[in-house]
Amino acid sequence: LGGGPLAGKHVIVTSGPTHEPIDPVRYIANRSSGAQGTALAAALRDLGAKVSFVTGPATVAPPQGVDLIRVETAREMLDAVQAALPADAAIFAAAVADWRVANAADKKMKKDGTGSLPALEFAENPDILATVSQMKKGRPGLVVGFAAETHDVIAHATAKRARKGCDWIVANDVSPATGIMGGTENAVTVIDAEGAESWPRMGKSEVAARLAQRIAEALA
Ligand code: C5P
Repeated sequence: LGGGPLAGKHVIVTSGPTHEPIDPVRYIANRSSGAQGTALAAALRDLGAKVSFVTGPATVAPPQGVDLIRVETAREMLDAVQAALPADAAIFAAAVADWRVANAADKKMKKDGTGSLPALEFAENPDILATVSQMKKGRPGLVVGFAAETHDVIAHATAKRARKGCDWIVANDVSPATGIMGGTENAVTVIDAEGAESWPRMGKSEVAARLAQRIAEALA
């Protein structure tokens, strides 16, 4: 067994986007690269944690030395998280699709030559962070969510923390001018029961290392 402040601790990390099928060859996705979740999983591993890394189809490669669980949809991600429980901490860095296509076709949709257009209907996906945060039995001791906001970051993230019932929200400003979404740097504010702590802008791996350290202190 390795050492480190998180030795013997099990941490679940979700990461990346989800893909929601329209038909067998088409899907709805988002621009999440999985960079911050991947860096966080690696930093937790480096502190000795056993990491269950539940990832959607991300563009960055998953870290080595974690239990890698690949999923595609939000519902698969929820199932995988529930199967990975119990955990000492769960960190929800994935950009989960809010909606899936309710009338997804089981065969490839075809143009019929008349110019008629398909109509997509949507259904709301489960909120994985809220589901785990509000577990009555077996809730991880520390549940952390992320919040990507474009304005009033602290107010929105504080409200999100209360609404979802998680312990911490890691909030960041993803306005296009910041270059954070898809970039290598991040500037985050960590919101917990005590208040808001804003960190200077730094590399995503530095944010991950600091968060992992803070998680280790909380679990100690
Ligand atoms: O509500 P919003 O999507 O802004 O919340 C973001 C946080 O909630 C992130 O931690 C994200 O991983 C999590 N989330 C989730 N399941 C969803 C939607 C968001 O776990 N269906």
